[in-house]
Amino acid sequence: MRVGLLTGGGDCPGLNAVIRAVVRKGEVTFNDEIVGFLDGWRGVIENTTMMLDVERCRGILPRGGTILGTSRTNPYKLDGAMGKLLQTLRAQRIDALVAMGGEDTLGVAEKLSSDEGVSMVGVPKTIDNDLSATDFTFGFDTAVQIATEAIDRLHTTAESHDRVIVCEVMGRHAGWIATYAGIAGGAAEILIPEEPFDIDLVCRKLKARHAKGRFASIVVVAEGALPVEGTMAVVSGEVDQFGHPRLGGIANLLASEIESRTGFETRVTILGHIQRGGTPTAFDRVLATRFGIAAIDAVHDRAFGQMVALRGNDIVRVPLKAAVSELKTVDSALYHGVAEYFFS
Ligand code: F6P
Repeated sequence: MRVGLLTGGGDCPGLNAVIRAVVRKGEVTFNDEIVGFLDGWRGVIENTTMMLDVERCRGILPRGGTILGTSRTNPYKLDGAMGKLLQTLRAQRIDALVAMGGEDTLGVAEKLSSDEGVSMVGVPKTIDNDLSATDFTFGFDTAVQIATEAIDRLHTTAESHDRVIVCEVMGRHAGWIATYAGIAGGAAEILIPEEPFDIDLVCRKLKARHAKGRFASIVVVAEGALPVEGTMAVVSGEVDQFGHPRLGGIANLLASEIESRTGFETRVTILGHIQRGGTPTAFDRVLATRFGIAAIDAVHDRAFGQMVALRGNDIVRVPLKAAVSELKTVDSALYHGVAEYFFS
């Protein structure tokens, strides 16, 4: 078969491991030709490609990013793009297309499958871990590891100076990274989009903690966290082709509120894209490799309109629709179960 492959949305550690696995099994077992489309859906619209084979994929397993490039291009938002995209698939004689992405990229894949009859297989990718129908996405473990290491480092400097440090991590709609890294790093407070925060309560808890003689506190905040009253502006106004605002900056607002309300010296660290860059953890490399093998198997089983997913320790297939219909938010029992004993 001639199989197309693309990576869309924000990049994510482990993408190259998936590419390598699809290519390895596709070439060795099925004698496939693998056509890589460059920069997500843009490559399919513009017919920009790179042929992929085992030789081309040597050495990419531990590399972060994606050798195919990525973009947030949405073919449904660009005039005439859908016609060009379908024309490319015909011109390239693509029998099946494997799309690696999060809710946006896989949302397009789902529509192409159900509305246009394109033979699609999805692979779930996002550091945010907010895709339904899979227990975990690859990239999340790496992001949590990076954020946890950063929090560990912030502890020692915060303790030396008796400071509060607000550490902002990614997660615009779901606070998975904040929750996992905050728990792993022993944060005093974890603020996530799913649990609007009361700034008064946060400050009271920090004061009570400091009154007990613990002067340094790390507050982990997801970029999409919001105060209960909705008083702090957090959106820059700029949106991408999928309508998502560019976030980043809640930590600064929070830190100045904390400092003025408590009198504690407060500093800010925004981890930003450091969480997405660099080499994937062993867990993510293994998960990505398993997803890649399962994706090319799904292509040859003609399991189109499906996404490979992790359930427990098994790789399964689920309808693309199940993956993109709603966001997977942080389990409230997990958050509150830990909050009760460890936050502030
Ligand atoms: O979707 C993954 C993600 O890393 C989000 O957590 C974050 O809000 C966004 O991408 C940042 O996007 P960009 O790379 O376009 O700045």
